[in-house]
Amino acid sequence: MSIVYEEKRKTITLHTKNTTYQMQIDRYGFLLHLYYGKRADGCMDYLLTFYDRGFSGNPYDAGNDKTYSMDALPQEFPSLGTGDYRTPACIIKNTDRTYCSDFRYESHTIKEGKYSLEGLPAVYASDDEAQTLEVVLVDRVTGVRAELLYGVLPEYDIITRSVRIINRSNGHISVKKLAPACLDMVGGQYDFITFYGRHAMERNYQRMPIGHGVSKIGSLRGSSSHQYNPAVIVAEKDTTEDAGGCYAMSFVYSGGFQSEAGMDQYYQTRVLMGLSEEQFAYPLNAGEEFQAPEVIMSYSSEGLSRLSQNLHRCMRTHLCRGKYKEAVRPILLNSWEASYFDFTGDSLLQLAQQAADLGIEMFVMDDGWFGQRDSELRGLGDWTVNEEKLGCTLGELIGKINDMGLKFGIWIEPEMVNEDSSLYREHPDWAFVIPGRRPNRSRHQLVLDFSRKEVVDHIYDQICAVLDQGNVEYIKWDMNRSLADIYSATADSQGRVLYDYVLGLYDFLERLVERYPHILIEGCSGGGGRFDAGMLYYTPQIWCSDNTDPIDRLEIQYGTSFIYPISSAGSHVSASPNHQTGRCTSMKTRGVVALAGTFGYELNLNDLSEEEKKEIRGQIAEYKRFAPLIQGGLYYRITNPQTDNLGAWQFVSEDQTEALVQAVSIRQHANMTVDYIRIKGLKENTMYRETGSGKVYNSTALRETGLPMPVALGEYRAYQWHFICEES
Ligand code: GLA
Repeated sequence: MSIVYEEKRKTITLHTKNTTYQMQIDRYGFLLHLYYGKRADGCMDYLLTFYDRGFSGNPYDAGNDKTYSMDALPQEFPSLGTGDYRTPACIIKNTDRTYCSDFRYESHTIKEGKYSLEGLPAVYASDDEAQTLEVVLVDRVTGVRAELLYGVLPEYDIITRSVRIINRSNGHISVKKLAPACLDMVGGQYDFITFYGRHAMERNYQRMPIGHGVSKIGSLRGSSSHQYNPAVIVAEKDTTEDAGGCYAMSFVYSGGFQSEAGMDQYYQTRVLMGLSEEQFAYPLNAGEEFQAPEVIMSYSSEGLSRLSQNLHRCMRTHLCRGKYKEAVRPILLNSWEASYFDFTGDSLLQLAQQAADLGIEMFVMDDGWFGQRDSELRGLGDWTVNEEKLGCTLGELIGKINDMGLKFGIWIEPEMVNEDSSLYREHPDWAFVIPGRRPNRSRHQLVLDFSRKEVVDHIYDQICAVLDQGNVEYIKWDMNRSLADIYSATADSQGRVLYDYVLGLYDFLERLVERYPHILIEGCSGGGGRFDAGMLYYTPQIWCSDNTDPIDRLEIQYGTSFIYPISSAGSHVSASPNHQTGRCTSMKTRGVVALAGTFGYELNLNDLSEEEKKEIRGQIAEYKRFAPLIQGGLYYRITNPQTDNLGAWQFVSEDQTEALVQAVSIRQHANMTVDYIRIKGLKENTMYRETGSGKVYNSTALRETGLPMPVALGEYRAYQWHFICEES
């Protein structure tokens, strides 16, 4: 039993293999948070302290007891109006126009299996893998209910949280703020690890102390964004990759979000993860309900690598779906950096033939194949094949590509429209434009109002009509701007539109996944602008970044790896000099970095020398050899490429008999000193053979002292070592 209710002390305890989470229904019916950390038995309510604290008021029920204050007690779901002046998880505007919610425990149920959320992505599990706790809280004055959901996956050390607000009052209310996950910690000093960035430089790692005042990250862009990723880690001050306590919160949502972390006046820490408050006021008439997306949480007492491994395992096997979720993904060639908009059917076929000759498995036709789409200026919204440009029908093109032994994939950007398109001319009100104002353009495009079902239906039908023309086995779903000018002509309140937009997106994706279960969908938003756990439910891989420079990718993939499985991060070998940075790197370096993701190519193969083609054949063979280990193994970060001389990481099979270590030198100096790569995760004091050199090493020595990184002239050299256990 992973969820246990103890009647005497009124505690509810959630156990996973290595962690314990505990809450208590207290004497006044408040749901207090007691503990989240290393697995522990017993009641932890001794952690609650009661003192008379100035300017921390007391609920009326506490009578003359000045020591009982919600301003100091750790809570599961803090709301505005109980005397807690810290940042709340929930703000509701009531029928009487007040902002008070005083949620008290009403009941709870424990069920086998993991809850699911209608219309929203969520972790899934079979009944014997998970349990669900539902705690019903009620504001006894308004009747508004908050149903807290907890999903427990014991083997994965994962706890998920969500909340449903039900309007059981007599009138209209609106939900102004909602964070399904709150972590209140009474002691300790913590760091807030977040992932910031920009287009083509996503998910940079930042670690800063949680101090007094609230640190907040988030996205006001209507999508999860390049700028901040909707996942955070809270780590004890001295936590490293290999030791110490740390918590993760990953939002299973692809729209605007916010995460707040702060220390209160009593040196207690609160961390929240939830929906962005900006332009959000979700209307609920009497009887209606609002379902928040869920947050995936995990705790590791053994440092950050273990925390990432917990998340990777859960997302890979219990969030991603479909036939490709654990399969080795096909090696693809994408036409974008090969020819951008400038192609014909013949040039694509020529490229595809080259790809087939090299052993590449899938050809992806990127942007530029539909409507009048010959540049960024026009065509989005008109999903009809430009047969004149292709010189044939889509079905014929796919047939020829399939005849070469290649699968075929196609790029789409369903959420967008150019003003220069038939769709916009016919339905100008389908794009987000505020009446009387001129809209913000971005990449010359506007965003379609996916909060409206008729808009989603229309685009869905157009896209299906394209997909039905031939044997399409892959889709790249792109989204190339942030939302703005939020106004929906048919909405009863504009405060719901951003959330409903995301539901529209998920509805489209869900229908696509059901209708075409054999199609692999790769998410994309100008690279990794919507790289989040919500999208992974529909798209088991996401284009990691529009930046394909392997040296920049070291940092991007490093940041990504803290939360997301390696199998989800699209990573391609592109041309040198690189199109985004102008940097020159060897084919080997580009190959090693791309191998640490979902592997593919994105360059004009016609420009390659015979020598380079030979290298590519070698890389393809290597990918096939190592892909199961890379995609399914345990991932360890060895260095931090933001600050160290080299980027180094490794994959270890779950049974610890095999490991692949990869490294790229970043900073080069004369008379170079030697860096030692400390290899982790192997069996203790066991001999391993490095298969490239045949040399045998002791695993403990490899971890304690490391493997010397070769010193050689020249920048950005890549190395790879493959270890096999000598002892059974
Ligand atoms: C975005 C994507 C690219 C490419 C272009 C096409 O920028 O991230 O990979 O598909 O759009 O317009």
